[in-house]
Amino acid sequence: PVLVVDFGAQYAQLIARRVREADVYSEVVPHDMPAAEVLAKRPAALILSGGPSSVYVEGAPRLAEGLLEAGVPVLGICYGFQAMTQALGGEVAKTGQREYGHTAARVVTDSVLFAEQPADQSVWMSHGDSVTRAPEGTTVTASTEGTPVAAFEDHERRVYGVQWHPEVLHSAQGQQVLERFLRQGAGIEGRWTPGHVIDELVEGIRAQVGEGRVICALSGGVDSSVAAALVQKAVGDQLTCVFVDHGLLRAGEREQVETDFVAATGVDLVTVDAVDQFLDALAGQTDPETKRKIIGREFIRTFEQAARDIVAGRAGENADDEHPVKWLVQGTLYPDVVESGGGAGTATIKSHHNVGGLPDDLQFGLVEPLRMLFKDEVRAIGRELGVPEAIVARQPFPGPGLGIRIIGEVTADRLETLRAADAIAREELTAAGLDDTIWQCPVVLLADVRSVGVQGDGRTYGHPIVLRPVSSEDAMTADWTRLPYEVLERISTRITNEVDEVNRVVLDVTSKPPGTIEWE
Ligand code: XMP
Repeated sequence: PVLVVDFGAQYAQLIARRVREADVYSEVVPHDMPAAEVLAKRPAALILSGGPSSVYVEGAPRLAEGLLEAGVPVLGICYGFQAMTQALGGEVAKTGQREYGHTAARVVTDSVLFAEQPADQSVWMSHGDSVTRAPEGTTVTASTEGTPVAAFEDHERRVYGVQWHPEVLHSAQGQQVLERFLRQGAGIEGRWTPGHVIDELVEGIRAQVGEGRVICALSGGVDSSVAAALVQKAVGDQLTCVFVDHGLLRAGEREQVETDFVAATGVDLVTVDAVDQFLDALAGQTDPETKRKIIGREFIRTFEQAARDIVAGRAGENADDEHPVKWLVQGTLYPDVVESGGGAGTATIKSHHNVGGLPDDLQFGLVEPLRMLFKDEVRAIGRELGVPEAIVARQPFPGPGLGIRIIGEVTADRLETLRAADAIAREELTAAGLDDTIWQCPVVLLADVRSVGVQGDGRTYGHPIVLRPVSSEDAMTADWTRLPYEVLERISTRITNEVDEVNRVVLDVTSKPPGTIEWE
């Protein structure tokens, strides 16, 4: 792998993503991992990330001792560039020349990193310190007005560095710079393609689960579906998928899983129809947290019962007493793994957060085939595996489903109203080609609010529907999406015409923060 040594930047994961976009496998490691441990992963190259510190202050994160001497090709970025400079005997100082944002750089085009690129580039800077003297033996290959040493390289020792951030899209030639480093600098070919990834993951799953039987909670979302499809490809006759219909799904979702997904992948599926159970449990409840807790609790109960039934051989074609269920599939992704401190291997069921607190007496090992993947890679391999596009391209949808999009008590009638409105909004957004523009668009029913309207000859007294289209990178922050008026008009007209009980459509124009994406 190409290892990204994380110096505390918010950019380390992004660097790994960009490397993978160049078809090269990449992982993030913490900067304090000892060199021997880093080298044991047999890195094809190292990339030192940016970070918030100054290399010359006491306690600043340092390069692990011996790392640079191992002969592995290295690219230093921003703080990593400075840390590398210091380690190689160059000089870093606070020059008073800070650069933030778009900066004009002049690069040497007969260098390894910048060949075949324009000599004048716009690069994205974010630094207060600068390299004031490049290490001996290196050639300075870029400069800006405020930073004479903005990049250097020594092709013989295979060390390269840039002061700016090639991983962000604002650096116009950034991806080219990374690819030049990987291919020409480090001599790495691109082999990390969906087909290759699938082969590796399938092999890993087979080795992990052996003869044991496996269950998977399918939600119809991208992650659980692709994880299930992978396990199916690896050990199909040992897998049973459980789909809980809690009645809080959107129009067509159950059919997507039961019909399209099963047809495409051939998984053995058990659907648990738990609609009444969930509605009974939610009756009379209006508090958002209470509703969430109830839905989570009922989900676990239902799934647990299904698992017991499968273990006892009462459900699923593959039920079998000789090989009891030993494994649970989870769609954990790489960003979650990095954020919870990295670490390989399988955790026990207690630490997982997707299915949520299954009891101790159901002891499963976890199969997490997506734990080294980013979302876009999950989508790519999902497509390669033939998972239906409607699932692969699906926008995020919360576990508690429509239950937290009805403001007020959840009832069967209200669910029907919201499902109809949501289906119209989704249909029109897709028809307008806006699926890639918006991150997601919750449609919310204000079930306890009524307003007066007029329709035909009569007065109406119905409920408002809220549209909440947002744009986001990671759901941590979001902005409201400026949808074209014509699209909003079509959605509004159709919902008020076609959905009984709804006589008003309103648009949520709040960013996050202060608003969250969901209303509850
Ligand atoms: P908020 O409303 O906190 O949502 O801005 C951020 C993202 O998380 C989704 N979300 C959930 N996803 N279970 C989930 O799997 C949940 O309980 C849940 N609550 C919110 C939300 O749709 C958005 O993408």
